[in-house]
Amino acid sequence: MCGIVGYLGSKEVVPLLLDGLRRLEYRGYDSAGITVLRNGSLETVRAEGKLDQLVEKLAGHAIRGSYGLGHTRWATHGAPSEQNAHPMVDSRQRVAVIHNGIIENFLTLKERLQAEGWSFTSETDTEVAANLISSYLDGDLKEAVARAAGELEGMYALAVVSTVGEREIVVTRHGPPLVIGVGEDEQFLASDPAALLAHTKDVVFLENNDVGRLTPEGIEIWDAGGARVERPVTRLNWDPIQAEKGGYKHFMLKEIHEQPLAVQETFAGRVDFERGQITLEELNLSEAAGRAIEKIDILACGTSWHAGLVGKFLIQGLARVPVEVDYGSEFRYRDPIVGPNDVAVGISQSGETADTLSALEAAADRGARLLSICNAPGSQIVRMTDGVIYTHAGPEIGVASTKAFTSQLVALYLLALYLRQIRGPALEPERLRALAHLPAAVDEVLGLEQELEQLARRYSRASDFLFLGRGINYPIALEGALKLKEISYIHAEGYPAGEMKHGPIALIDEELPIVAIATGDRVYEKVRSNMQEAKARGGIVIALTDRDPQEFDGIAAEVIQVPRVCEELQPIVNVVPLQLLAYYVGVRRGADVDQPRNLAKSVTVE
Ligand code: AGP
Repeated sequence: MCGIVGYLGSKEVVPLLLDGLRRLEYRGYDSAGITVLRNGSLETVRAEGKLDQLVEKLAGHAIRGSYGLGHTRWATHGAPSEQNAHPMVDSRQRVAVIHNGIIENFLTLKERLQAEGWSFTSETDTEVAANLISSYLDGDLKEAVARAAGELEGMYALAVVSTVGEREIVVTRHGPPLVIGVGEDEQFLASDPAALLAHTKDVVFLENNDVGRLTPEGIEIWDAGGARVERPVTRLNWDPIQAEKGGYKHFMLKEIHEQPLAVQETFAGRVDFERGQITLEELNLSEAAGRAIEKIDILACGTSWHAGLVGKFLIQGLARVPVEVDYGSEFRYRDPIVGPNDVAVGISQSGETADTLSALEAAADRGARLLSICNAPGSQIVRMTDGVIYTHAGPEIGVASTKAFTSQLVALYLLALYLRQIRGPALEPERLRALAHLPAAVDEVLGLEQELEQLARRYSRASDFLFLGRGINYPIALEGALKLKEISYIHAEGYPAGEMKHGPIALIDEELPIVAIATGDRVYEKVRSNMQEAKARGGIVIALTDRDPQEFDGIAAEVIQVPRVCEELQPIVNVVPLQLLAYYVGVRRGADVDQPRNLAKSVTVE
């Protein structure tokens, strides 16, 4: 979950490293540092805390050089401190290493290196890698890195520079991502393409166990077996502006407002409204394979897991395929029953969530075909699955997932319709037309922003929140609760509304706001009576509904009225006010909305 950047070219490297780190700060930010090669020595400056602390420290150091590395850290081994910040330098001051991931056998290696006379100044696994690489360095940095990597167990993305040998940056990965930016006589490096966009759109994704060498002349890559390989250059269609805030106070608010475009981009080109057909070429799922599916396991974490729960309703309801939904971190410990005619669908915005990747591996080990729904081209999940439905939401920088989530719901709707198209019954044109109306409905519900800001003002001091929903909107209750707790740090729980009477109703008092989702027809009356039960016990009921607010007179203290769309797409409309509520409560409470405490955008460790 750390941020890695590197540059090698003819420009001053420090401003480029800091710019890259600024764009990656959401990936982890409890310390940061850079190393620059100058006159044959390593100049390293590190600082605890956010990137601003490093910038402040560098203001006193005129470090000039044309190649180096930068890193923002989300601590795994060793407390957040300057001593444990990267880059790590070996005890002979010959190599500097930045690292993302966890080296699981670092203690064994550390003991061996200490016995050989290497010394350590930190508690990190990264310093072990630095000393190990240096212990093999005899002039060829690439060989030393390859040899050291062969001894590492666990997950790592490493970037290394050295005072020995050529003017070069050597990289390798096993697990966490590393992407190389191809420039004109200059090379860039990052753990996420978003950090490269201001400089180049042409990128090369390293495969697992590749070793790469960046030099002024270009890039050389060797595979796990040591053979030279060519990896394809991908042109990213994200323009740099898109990855900026675009005038919004936070990335999260910008991305909430990008949802009409994100959902439209996600179904664009995949729906033939005239012929009433769905096309999902990248899914790589033939009609025969689609018809043979006996069960689908949806595997995901966090917000993506909530999307999976909605997906279960969509796929079972529209295509009559049995669906199980499981946390990535739980699936492989359930000794899951998976057969050769089963499909595992991994849902991941980043495509790098270690728990989800491991769960997919467990499904594959049991014979499942792997598919993914992902927002990141070239990411791990895409490369390990047989087919993908990309959510074309563009880069999602805010740690709290918003536009990626609603785009995932569109992708799941497309998947459900595609399976219905293959397996029957006939695909009704109105189900496609419902998609065409969706961007306008999402745009309309964004018009509630001011109302939600006022609502947030009234309830930002609550210490607890309850979110209730039934059926396809139960996952939206969970998502509303997660948004609020991860952005504002208020304790919030999502519950099936029918479950209230089995315990949670004991929580209700005059201090407790209860957001209840009452849209559609199937469960509307049930939810409305749950609201009355809550009201009768003094709870503060906030109704989210597509009905006339007067239907809640005497029941709800607040009514959020949303536009009505078809039942299957209503969750996409319903979640937007909950995103806005969480955002404005977080802002009112002075929380760091784009970089909430203790969180990272991509959880690449298990
Ligand atoms: C969402 O707001 C959270 N930041 C988190 O739950 C996230 O959804 C989860 O970590 C999964 O990430 P992924 O979609 O990139 O796999």
